[in-house]
Amino acid sequence: MFTARFAVGVLILLLARSWIWRDKRQRILPPSPPGQPLIGHLRVIPDRHPEFQYARWAKEYDTDILYFNVLGRSIIVLNSIEAAHELLDKRGANYSDRPRFVLFEVMGWGVTLTFLRWSPRFVLHRKLLQKSFTQSACKAYQPIQAEEARRAARAIVADPNGWEIILRQFSTAVVLRVGFGIEVQEKDDPYVKMTLDVEEATGQGGVPASNVVDFFPVLRYVPNSIARLSKLFRPLIHARRTKRFIQRLHDAPWESVESSIRAKEHLKPSFVHTQFDQYLVNEAAGKPNDAMIEDIKGIAGAITIAGGNTTWSTIIVCILGLLKNPEAYAKARAEIEDVIGVDENRDLLRLPTFEDRPRLKYLANVLHETTRWQPLSPLGVPHATLADDEYNGFHIPAGSVVYPNVRAMSRDERHYSSPEEFCPERYEPVDRGGRGEPLPDGPFGFGRRACPGKYLAMSGVYIVISTLLATMHLRCPKDENGNEILPNIVFSDGLSGVPGSFGCLITPRSKHAEVLLGC
Ligand code: HEM
Repeated sequence: MFTARFAVGVLILLLARSWIWRDKRQRILPPSPPGQPLIGHLRVIPDRHPEFQYARWAKEYDTDILYFNVLGRSIIVLNSIEAAHELLDKRGANYSDRPRFVLFEVMGWGVTLTFLRWSPRFVLHRKLLQKSFTQSACKAYQPIQAEEARRAARAIVADPNGWEIILRQFSTAVVLRVGFGIEVQEKDDPYVKMTLDVEEATGQGGVPASNVVDFFPVLRYVPNSIARLSKLFRPLIHARRTKRFIQRLHDAPWESVESSIRAKEHLKPSFVHTQFDQYLVNEAAGKPNDAMIEDIKGIAGAITIAGGNTTWSTIIVCILGLLKNPEAYAKARAEIEDVIGVDENRDLLRLPTFEDRPRLKYLANVLHETTRWQPLSPLGVPHATLADDEYNGFHIPAGSVVYPNVRAMSRDERHYSSPEEFCPERYEPVDRGGRGEPLPDGPFGFGRRACPGKYLAMSGVYIVISTLLATMHLRCPKDENGNEILPNIVFSDGLSGVPGSFGCLITPRSKHAEVLLGC
């Protein structure tokens, strides 16, 4: 009985949406592949890694903007950097909303900037986060990052097989110290386990805002017994199962510092400390607070969750790129030797620091290439339009969900020759033997929603990679015939892609390197 009523309800909703869609189709929409009656492109868009098919359609229809209609909702996919700049950057005021992420709500995401719709609350969160992580504000966190990078390198010397989890520990440690002033334990830290769980939740939740419950929020209440009957509901079951992971990583760090901040005990400088302290001062003086406790907690949660796994994945992709391109690896190491200086045994005179960064120009290109080569969010985090718009004569309806196809942009042969290659030289000027290609401009998003944690993240990646290059050999393992086992490139399909595990032998360059690290 319930199922029959439910099916009728869905049919009525589909008919209503399809009618609205038909009405709007009077205007010229961007090109799209043929859809199906009522459901539009629901079954035409691939479930997994649709960015590849979007790029193929863009070529087939010779367009940089594609249109889809899924269950009555307009979806726009931008396949060129020019289209993304024009719409998401230049016309940012109209493209800064987000769609409602119903699946992520089920997953337990609370008041988190990434998913906030355009509203006074969004403006408040954005302002607080942005000013805490500008390029110059991030200098304050560099000592933490340098200390954690060295700690990670020492831990790898002690346990080379644990390199992946140790690097994860690095990125978790940085965001927890910066966000909450919490220091993680050397081994088996519960927060590291929490970030692993969160990664499973967000890394495998599918393309954001694309599940059937995102289109019909009422479907979030479908019981598991019915949801199990259709693969459309697989992400819903996944979200319900992983909800506790997201909530725990929001609640646990906050609970562990809240009472100390109230009592002004054992305080370490952090985002939460600064904001909550101010909140308490205002409260005591009877002054109104802009940011309520829920906001402070939500923003700090965004730092931990949006910043930990993404930084780790970028470090892993960089190692992957260097293993795949030994020439780039050798050049980056030679540059470090050149800038820092070596003794008669070719041992470095000291460890790399942030002061060296402006002179490590090749390494800077290695980091740029890392973000272009395998963008972690190949379809970004979708924006949404507030009002109707027009681009190259095509109508973009208000309320459209807009995905920048960052993967397609990174493979655009008008800008990048041999785009599948990991090639840091591509950014060097032509008169210095490079290819003079533009720096990647989509991996951290666009316009007023662009990633506010970019500088913090890339400082972390810089100090870890420079420390590893300076002190360690990074090699591919060999098979029984002595041939190198080159890593495969596999990514999960979710809000932020997670690279699959691969073998890498990381060993100290010399006794001297161990001494420099303080082993
Ligand atoms: C290399 C690591 C990182 C990558 C690749 C990355 C990538 C992204 C991308 C693609 C977006 C969506 C932008 C858009 O909608 O146009 C985003 C948003 C966001 N990122 Fe990052 N991010 C990284 C690190 C960080 C860090 C360390 C933090 C924490 C400080 C952070 C916090 C956020 C937040 C809060 C948003 C939502 C912004 C909004 O909706 O207004 N991210 N990031």
